[in-house]
Amino acid sequence: MRNLTPASITQAFADYSRNAPSERTRVLLVDLARHLHTFVRDNKVTQAEWNAAIDALTRATQFTDDKRNEYILFSDLLGVSSLVDMINSATTGTPSSVLGPFHIEGAPELANGGDLWRGQVGEPLVVSGRIADATGAPAAGTVLALWQNSGNGLYAQQDTTQSPTNYHARLTVAPDGSFAFSTVRPVSYTVPDDGPAGDMLRALGREAWRPAHLHMIIHAPGRKPLITEFFPEDDKYLDSDAVFGVRAGLVVPFHRLADRAALPTNLAARDTLPMPVWTASLDLTLPAA
Ligand code: BEZ
Ligand code: FE
Repeated sequence: MRNLTPASITQAFADYSRNAPSERTRVLLVDLARHLHTFVRDNKVTQAEWNAAIDALTRATQFTDDKRNEYILFSDLLGVSSLVDMINSATTGTPSSVLGPFHIEGAPELANGGDLWRGQVGEPLVVSGRIADATGAPAAGTVLALWQNSGNGLYAQQDTTQSPTNYHARLTVAPDGSFAFSTVRPVSYTVPDDGPAGDMLRALGREAWRPAHLHMIIHAPGRKPLITEFFPEDDKYLDSDAVFGVRAGLVVPFHRLADRAALPTNLAARDTLPMPVWTASLDLTLPAA
């Protein structure tokens, strides 16, 4: 098409793409262009604003390596990662949430009842619970992949003073679906905000804080892994999570427990944890098959 105008360019894009080998890819890209064109027209985007956007994307490459991906961080902070998760996840059972950048494959095995805290900085927390399917039957054979930050706010990958797998573990639940472990109470922390994604937060007057959370992937035999995270209900950032990961069903009370006799009997650190400890009870339900 010649003599393109602001009004006709969107249809021209669709026409030029009519021979796309994949129909799904054509639909996605044509609709993306339609939204972008509408955005540019409606907001009368200036050349300087276009330059600023390209500059942010260009600078994102400098903040992206095998340990950090500034493009995924943009997606997280824009709510896109969370939205993709929500529209693709089951509507029954424990809600899913975002994966985040700190999951590692091949984390060490932790025996059911095991201790991740080992006297490190921060306040000890005892997590116990049960995993059941939609009928209430125990989800035997389920493996929980666990990861969280240390009491100093940093994940092992961000902190050379921690071993590379500190607070990363894989735990196989008991035949009745129950599990327990001791760890540190996770703390709220800021997502990496020294790059262009952080500049976007500042331009929006937003905060980089995430509420404290425990990440989990529930690997139940024969099912799609359920990626989720749990938040203490007293965290002050629950209503402003920088990456939009909080769901009502994932916010749980953390209680103080002074009575050692009330700790789970299979806890390896049952006799040595300094009381009182924090406790959290997590009962997870798998989605209906
Ligand atoms: C996290 O949960 O660790 C996380 C999620 C998204 C961006 C940065 C960190
Ligand atoms: Fe996290």
